[in-house]
Amino acid sequence: MTSTNPIEPRVESLLSSMSLAEKIGQMTQVEKNSITPDDVATYFIGSVLSGGGGYPTPNTPEEWRNMVTGFQKAALSTRLGIPMMYGVDAVHGNNNVIGATIFPHNIGLGATRDRELVAKTARVTALEMLASGIHWDFAPCVAVPQDIRWGRTYEGFGQDTKLVSQLGSAYLLGLQNAGEGLSDADGLSDAHSVLGSVKHYIGDGGAGWESISRFGADWAPELWGEATRAVGIDQGITVGDEAFIREVFLPPYIEAIAAGARNIMISYTSWGGLKMHAQKYLLTDVLKTELGFTGFLVTDWNAISQIHADAFTAIVTSINAGLDMVMVPFDYKTFIELLTRAVENGVVAMSRIDDAVRRILRVKLETCLFTHPFGDESLLNRVGSPEHRAIAREAVRRSLVLLKNEQVFPLPKQMSSIFVAGTADDLGAQCGGWTIEWQGKKGNHMPGTTLLQALQQASVPVQYSATGEFPDNAGLADLGIVVLAEPPYAEGVGDRENLCLTAEEIALVHRLRGRCEKLLVILYSGRPLIINEALSMADAFIAAWLPGSEGEGITDVLFGEYPFSGKLSFAWPRSMAHVPYSALQKSPEPPLFPIGFGL
Ligand code: BGC
Ligand code: BGC
Repeated sequence: MTSTNPIEPRVESLLSSMSLAEKIGQMTQVEKNSITPDDVATYFIGSVLSGGGGYPTPNTPEEWRNMVTGFQKAALSTRLGIPMMYGVDAVHGNNNVIGATIFPHNIGLGATRDRELVAKTARVTALEMLASGIHWDFAPCVAVPQDIRWGRTYEGFGQDTKLVSQLGSAYLLGLQNAGEGLSDADGLSDAHSVLGSVKHYIGDGGAGWESISRFGADWAPELWGEATRAVGIDQGITVGDEAFIREVFLPPYIEAIAAGARNIMISYTSWGGLKMHAQKYLLTDVLKTELGFTGFLVTDWNAISQIHADAFTAIVTSINAGLDMVMVPFDYKTFIELLTRAVENGVVAMSRIDDAVRRILRVKLETCLFTHPFGDESLLNRVGSPEHRAIAREAVRRSLVLLKNEQVFPLPKQMSSIFVAGTADDLGAQCGGWTIEWQGKKGNHMPGTTLLQALQQASVPVQYSATGEFPDNAGLADLGIVVLAEPPYAEGVGDRENLCLTAEEIALVHRLRGRCEKLLVILYSGRPLIINEALSMADAFIAAWLPGSEGEGITDVLFGEYPFSGKLSFAWPRSMAHVPYSALQKSPEPPLFPIGFGL
């Protein structure tokens, strides 16, 4: 894709006319509330981003477009007119935007095992981003989660490296419109293409529980503050030797690079006593030299501050390790000042700066950023369109995994009553984290269809009580449906030591058990949970993951218009003694359901 094009001469010509300030500006990525368009121009900023929940007010696709356009116009007004690249976490649809189509999180896509479908979801996501002028998606996450207590488990497609490699590269091809029958046009330079960021390099899914600490082996409470002590997994220390890292976590990157990856985000985790952001060996020697990666590396959010308490040392270490762009994200003036000083002092070589800027410019020139800096306004009317929602609905029905079915499915044609209980009418819970807000949020605060609404539309005789309390004279329902849901969470906030269902959840299942002939339990969760008791009370059990905005995808399958087809992409533990995955592998007892299971 990049060998025989006229891009390199353009990179060199731009680079040769750039001042140090212009170069360092390109290496700087700033959070949108921390900078004005004027300062994007003044400091030659290379990229602006929205973190999770970083939306404008009002949160509409049009207002997003106005905001991004403002930054872009400022970048284009500079001497060299190099466009900035706006970045977002569109990790299951362009999920910060009210009105966007929200897809199942990756764990659900993993259960579909369908590369083409995964690419289609990414394609729609790209179009909904470009409507607002956004060219860069911090996705796909190609974590291979080894411990489902991790709050980011659902961001991974599965526990199997091969599956993650296949689906991660499919997602990337869809975003970057890069063909192979998985998208409809020809690559990153196409006007309807979005740059993907393959993340988080490397071993983000491999940290151990309570692996001290977020701040690497050097962590000391007197240096960083007691509050930074890691209590979970997220941003912890990756377990395993180099052979293990290469075997389990590296293949998705190799496959993504082969599929055209041009940007990789580094992981918050540590390994061998060093934060990943300080690992010259893994970043430069392995990724850039050994794998021949010619795109650019971006840090995670404020991640370099974890390398060292002294900002100057942290910046020097990360840039010398091979980082090309820094997601600062707030105090960009200090970042620019310190990196400038480091170059002037000679502790960061000019050749390293040139290499970083060359990589950033190369990728910017490969994309449609110079030719279509404002995206495509005509796509605005396709945001959340029926066509896009239909693809999400398809992804939902394909992602459902039927774990138990004792003469429940196929449902009888005629039923005189269905009692529905639990979290059946909550879009926020249905979507999970990274939906409008960084952490997600319960409630029906955006367009979409809850399962309850989908059931009502299906004109079946439904009665709903969240607490499962139905009038005594209503008798016994033909079918009871209990929806259990993990509350929304993202990143370390979702680290959870005990994955058992709560006593209230068990009580709810029990209550409904007494009120129906057949009992179906549907679970919304970002990972397998310990479900044994609920499973044994239920006649049928569906793992629905975090399905997103299109609840009809569930009723499509419940009422037999489509078959169940999802297969587990994670082994399902019998008890917490089966967590992490390495404990299950050593256990004499088999999992409750193995990877690949699905009735
Ligand atoms: C997350 C990344 C994300 C970034 C920007 C970080 O906290 O780890 O996955 O891309 O924030 O929102
Ligand atoms: C997340 C961002 C988010 C921010 C909120 C970060 O860790 O990555 O996406 O907006 O926290 O404080």
